[in-house]
Amino acid sequence: MAQIVLTLIVGLAVLTWAASGVVHTTARSWFERDVTSRSRLALTSARHSLVSAWVGDPKILHAQLMDLARDERVMAVELCNADLSVRARTDAFPDDFGCSIVGSRARVGKNGGYVLHEWNAVSALPSGRVYVSVMPLEWEGQELGFVTMLHDMSFIERREAKARNFLLVAFGILAVLAFGVPMFVAKRARSDWSIELRRILRGGAKHKREFHPIVSDVVELAGQMANDREDAPAQWNAERLKQVLNRRLFGEKVIIVSNREPYVHVFTEDGEVEVQHPASGLVTALEPVMRACSGVWVAHGSGSADRATVDRKDHVSVPPGENSYDIRRIWLSEAEEQGYYYVFSNEGLWPLCHIAHASPIFRSADWRQYKAVNQKFADAVCDEADSDDPIILVQDYHFALAPAMIRKRLPAATVIMFWHIPWPNAERMGICPWRDELLTGLLGSSIVGFHTQLHCNNFLDSVDRYLEARLDREENAVVARGHRTLVRPYPISLEWPVRWAETAPSPEECRAQIWREFNLKPDAFLGVGVDRLDYTKGIEERLMAVELLLERHPEYRGRFTFAQVAAPSRTKIDRYRELNEAVEALTERINNRFGHGEYRPIILLREHHEPPDVFRYYRAADLCYVSSLHDGMNLVAKEFVSARSDRKGVLILSEFTGAAKELTEALIVNPYDVETSSEAMATALRMPISEQMDRMRSMRSVLSQFNVYRWAGKMLGDAARLRSQERVTGRLAERSSIGTAV
Ligand code: F6P
Repeated sequence: MAQIVLTLIVGLAVLTWAASGVVHTTARSWFERDVTSRSRLALTSARHSLVSAWVGDPKILHAQLMDLARDERVMAVELCNADLSVRARTDAFPDDFGCSIVGSRARVGKNGGYVLHEWNAVSALPSGRVYVSVMPLEWEGQELGFVTMLHDMSFIERREAKARNFLLVAFGILAVLAFGVPMFVAKRARSDWSIELRRILRGGAKHKREFHPIVSDVVELAGQMANDREDAPAQWNAERLKQVLNRRLFGEKVIIVSNREPYVHVFTEDGEVEVQHPASGLVTALEPVMRACSGVWVAHGSGSADRATVDRKDHVSVPPGENSYDIRRIWLSEAEEQGYYYVFSNEGLWPLCHIAHASPIFRSADWRQYKAVNQKFADAVCDEADSDDPIILVQDYHFALAPAMIRKRLPAATVIMFWHIPWPNAERMGICPWRDELLTGLLGSSIVGFHTQLHCNNFLDSVDRYLEARLDREENAVVARGHRTLVRPYPISLEWPVRWAETAPSPEECRAQIWREFNLKPDAFLGVGVDRLDYTKGIEERLMAVELLLERHPEYRGRFTFAQVAAPSRTKIDRYRELNEAVEALTERINNRFGHGEYRPIILLREHHEPPDVFRYYRAADLCYVSSLHDGMNLVAKEFVSARSDRKGVLILSEFTGAAKELTEALIVNPYDVETSSEAMATALRMPISEQMDRMRSMRSVLSQFNVYRWAGKMLGDAARLRSQERVTGRLAERSSIGTAV
């Protein structure tokens, strides 16, 4: 800026200098021409009287000369004889221009006449420059002499100086106007502009078109900076998540929708109401997030005492005694639960998404129920919203259609869909007769999240194969029907520290309790498995690995016990009942084969266990085997690590879980390979404590950083960036007003 101003000032100075030169030359030539013509006129009109008086009284000549000098520009007049002597002169005629000096200069030409009319001279007179005009005087062919007239030219200098000063002032004013006005206008514009920009960035709804490019750049940059801050190594915790929500989402209320509710109220046999924590990875992960964020969790009211514990609006405040958020319970008829939950979700989508060898069942009657229940939940979510643009976290495969349904009613909502299970490859997805509708439903989301990049890629490939949509591979986004959906990996995790680990007895105490309960010998080894009784968890393969361990390593017979905590799940489904029977039969076979006296190698605990109880098993065990045949993440693996504050114990982990990508210090196995898995158990049982501690320390450090607050913070951070981008580009406002259907 300073450089521009300097250049302009120098430019103007040069311009002024050039202009004053032109003015000087032009004015001078005008004035000189003026003086010349005036002197000629004066001499011509005086010539006759001068000649007449030539020989008369010198006083008369003097008086005539004085008359001539009365003109304000004529300084002095002299009358010279032909011999260059003075004949008469006005008073104080300067000697510098005496007859001899002027005469010798004027007497040129062949005939010796006086020809110099004008002589521009610089004299020593106080006035400075003078103009000398000479005119010969003749009488009847006889040369009498000449008249010299001196004109004062100093007025020209004075006028030039005036003109120059005027020019300078004029250019000065011009310069001020030329620089000042645009600068003032620019400054005003900049200030208006920055006020407008600040307003937009703070969340003002509409803005002018010219702001689009800069605003999206600023938002992008701000988002990056915020993300960089959020990537900072500082620990993520509930407090930090709250701050993200308050700072970046202006304390917006969060609405979660899932099939499974975080707290189930059940009647005990005595008619008392008991609160249960369901065995669900989704609930384990999201409950601490909801406690931090507050808001409403919309879920199926599945407990026997659920209806008895809600208010008129089907709300109940949880956690009991803490009341940080509300559950809004949705009631389903038996037919709805059957079609939507048991069949379409768990006999259709569940086997479709898991490579676990069960044929998916797809029937149109169940699909109709699935659609109707999705609409029911979507409506409840919209009813719970207290603004046009709420933040809604839709959870899992039970609600693939809900995002588009919500978007239809609340076009400006930020809908984040998190798919907790794997997404199959495009070819396998093609099995589902309603794949297009499922994909379209999901694309009503602002963001679709999976645990891994592989599942994001599978999803994008499915969209590519089955829908008319534009894929932005660079950004991992899909644009369909004018709506953009980001597809992102967000590996889910646990709160850190896990509250159950905080309140559980010490590992030594847990070990002592379990040893007593199972009547184990002091030198016994304990392995644990904790799952819902689900065929994707590889429970049969796990038990077979235990069997092979005892077969190949007789030293562990009588010493190694494997406790399988198996929460009954989806028991109305044949495949789950079959599994239950298969696991029971396998347990019996192994126990018959290797058990003796009180020793039973497999202890099958087939009932619901509350988290504090589960944590006792984790803390007591020498190893934990997670053998999922296919799993989005598997939080049991993470829970086991979180429970081991003593850094002891070994995790054996299926390579087909999302968790295996993060917990790399576990013994990673292929659960189908029963021989290798059983050897991994033997390795675990022999592993020196120092190595166990090294591995555990490293895994615990990963979990402490990559905890569920970070998971939620990342998703909400991306949502916040999306919201501000949409606000500044006007899309949010447009959507609210035109109600774009997806
Ligand atoms: O984590 C996968 C998951 O399917 C969750 O989505 C679900 O809540 C959980 O397992 C338990 O299943 P269900 O809710 O059917 O008992």
